Amino acid sequence: MTALNPSKTVAIIGAGTMGAGIAQVAAAAGHPVLLYDVSDGASHAAIVKIGKGLERLVERGKIAREEAQAITGRITPANDLEALSEATLVVEAIVENLEVKKDLFAKLEDIVAEDAILSTNTSSISVTSIARDLRFPARVAGLHFFNPAPVMKLVEIVSSQMTNPAIAETLFDTATEWGKIAVHARSTPGFIVNRVARPFYAEALRLYEEQVADPATLDALMKGAGGYRMGPFELMDLIGNDVNYAVSLSVFNSYYQDPRFRPSLLQLELVNAGYLGRKSGRGFYDYSEGAEKPATQPEIAPVGTTPLGGFSIGTDTEVEGVQITMSDGRMASEVAQDLGRPVILHDYFAEGATMLGFTVSDGVPDSFVARFVAKLSEDGLAAVRLPDWPGLVVLRTVSMLANEGFEASLQGVANETDIDLAMRYGVNHPQGPVGRAREIGLSRVLSVLDSLLRLTGDPRYRASFALRKIAQHD
Ligand code: NAI
Repeated sequence: MTALNPSKTVAIIGAGTMGAGIAQVAAAAGHPVLLYDVSDGASHAAIVKIGKGLERLVERGKIAREEAQAITGRITPANDLEALSEATLVVEAIVENLEVKKDLFAKLEDIVAEDAILSTNTSSISVTSIARDLRFPARVAGLHFFNPAPVMKLVEIVSSQMTNPAIAETLFDTATEWGKIAVHARSTPGFIVNRVARPFYAEALRLYEEQVADPATLDALMKGAGGYRMGPFELMDLIGNDVNYAVSLSVFNSYYQDPRFRPSLLQLELVNAGYLGRKSGRGFYDYSEGAEKPATQPEIAPVGTTPLGGFSIGTDTEVEGVQITMSDGRMASEVAQDLGRPVILHDYFAEGATMLGFTVSDGVPDSFVARFVAKLSEDGLAAVRLPDWPGLVVLRTVSMLANEGFEASLQGVANETDIDLAMRYGVNHPQGPVGRAREIGLSRVLSVLDSLLRLTGDPRYRASFALRKIAQHD
């Protein structure tokens, strides 16, 4: 273990949302913390706010009052940068601007000891660019927390072109000691999470644009079938459409406008309208007082319908001349033609699912569909009928998430294990994208992507070579 000893001083620069949260985390781990902000009184205000947040935890019986007081007691406002001279670790969490950050780090080099570690919480700026003009760029790394820092478990340890691996290890071990899940990432746009999570929003937006279903239905499927804690539209409304769109645009441009990251014009129009989400009272949903959230209307079999027997969902079965199987990305009409009999294709569903999307080819009698729906209902699955669309909803999204995970691993941004951990602890996905794809079967995931590419002609769906290479042996 090379974690910093808790007796070492940690300096946090920037006492905004992230700086305050990180200060709390470091202080809770026992470090003396110095908190500096250019704005007068900001550090003091942040400490008061941290105290109030901790007080709420005391009231809810989560921590002892003495502990809460000890945490705030360890955080001291610093009046100027010179006051940070004794810091062993500096965490920068100031405005997201390369020149301002470079200027700050240059000043810090003259203040802190030569062996102090300098880290940045930047979300979108190249750590390499921040470090390049310093005298000792090897001691600079990204220490990327997620908001709210005291709650979110993940910390991405981002290495630049110059970062000394030992520094990255110390940060990794220190973040782990602080109770976080640390992962290593190479300095590339979006690092792991802000890159690999893009399809979660992008595919939902595409499906809505393609009029496959409305946001309420898509959210319900992603939660009820995919096991995600929040639906993509609910999450975009929470993050703010302006912020979410800006991140998408920044990642898109950073990757030289790779169509995989193409942002959504529909989301841009919401931003243009001022429909930013919860904070503006309206986004994909209406948050004004008394507004009712639109509900999903699952299929309901007519009263008295006998549930379809002779099959269990999740198996590839022929029942009364109809093939019932999980989508592999091809359209139901194609599969029906190949098999020479009508088909019901259903979406992917995770363990504990309460909902399932499905689509039907020509030639399946309505009464059969009703019995299929009644069978799902008997199994505790609300059924949502979808148009005949490649990869349906959850499978398409999950496949695209996995594709991005494989591509990031192919490019050495991080290894598959860290990519999965990052998605579980940075955005609370129930499973990492790579692990989930392996569970579904890589050949099916590859087939979904290949079908999407073939049927839409959109290069965003091209499969990562890393996936294709492994899927061949799957
Ligand atoms: P914020 O706007 O809440 O806080 C920034 C603070 O830095 C302000 O109090 C400001 O007065 C201070 N500041 C600005 N320039 C300064 C300077 N030269 N020296 C000292 N203090 C300065 O911003 P937030 O959201 O906390 O973001 C900070 C950093 O963390 C950014 O790099 C951002 O990209 C990154 N980040 C933000 C996340 C978020 O969800 N808000 C998540 C992860 C990273």
